[in-house]
Amino acid sequence: MPDTTVFADVAHEPGVAKPDPILVADGVVRRFGGLTAVDVSHFEVQRHTITALIGPNGAGKSTFFNLLTGFDQAQEGAGTFDGTALRRMPPHKVARAGMVRTFQLTKALEGMSVMENMRLGAQHQPGESLLTAFAPPMWKKREAEVTERAEDLLQRFKLYEKRDESAGVLSGGQRKLLEMARALMASPTMVMLDEPMAGVNPALTESLLEHIVELKDEGMTVLFVEHDMHMVRRISDWVAVMAQGSIIAEGPASTVMQNPAVQDAYLGEHHDTDLSEDQS
Ligand SMILES: Nc1ncnc2c1ncn2[C@@H]1O[C@H](COP(=O)(O)OP(=O)(O)O)[C@@H](O)[C@H]1O
Ligand SMILES: [Mg+2]
Repeated sequence: MPDTTVFADVAHEPGVAKPDPILVADGVVRRFGGLTAVDVSHFEVQRHTITALIGPNGAGKSTFFNLLTGFDQAQEGAGTFDGTALRRMPPHKVARAGMVRTFQLTKALEGMSVMENMRLGAQHQPGESLLTAFAPPMWKKREAEVTERAEDLLQRFKLYEKRDESAGVLSGGQRKLLEMARALMASPTMVMLDEPMAGVNPALTESLLEHIVELKDEGMTVLFVEHDMHMVRRISDWVAVMAQGSIIAEGPASTVMQNPAVQDAYLGEHHDTDLSEDQS
């Protein structure tokens, strides 16, 4: 269930300041040739909440995720994560600082086993040092810890039976679960999920929603991109809307959909985003 109490005094305006932001983006611009894919003047994510980032196809959501997590570099502007400047920080350092994003399984990862995928997610954990990498006793201890954490997560995501199978044989929903489990191997404080429910059948959607809510219950902050407004309404404490590279609206799900600028942004959209009120 969304919890909007922390936002009680927060204006429903794009770029509005939050009481305790874990992530702040300022003047972030990314151009590809003549196209400005991202132009976010200011955006804050409140700590310990689930925030949805929505917007029509091509709005710049994935590019914005990449800029925040170090997988792409902005031409202008920068962000801070938990007080640490993100400018020019490579992805592994962003992950070590506590912010991870999920990735769709690529061909290369599909060829590896479920367990091997989990081990890859453990790289660049907080506290990992050169010493652990090179001193055999430390290395063994670390190996055992990684295995234990991976097994715990695989149990929790109901993938334990599949641990030795190639990730390529997993169903669409199981892949999404693996993507999330793998991200959690890095012990993050903030998780960025890009379309976690895409291509997942309704039965697994419920379980994915529950897993996302669990992340918040465990103290993590979640920022997720999702097209299905029904899902967004069910779990988001706060919603930010992106269109043509900028944040054009923010607020609780119930009010943000009523915003004329948001309705305009979705006009002419082909995918079946349903902005209507939904009481279920
Ligand atoms: N690597 C790239 N090179 C050129 N254009 C890109 C690249 N990545 C994204 N774009 C363009 O940037 C815009 C935003 O894309 P994207 O961030 O994927 O949007 P969304 O995730 O909201 O659908 C789109 O017009 C897209 O074609
Ligand atoms: Mg995208």
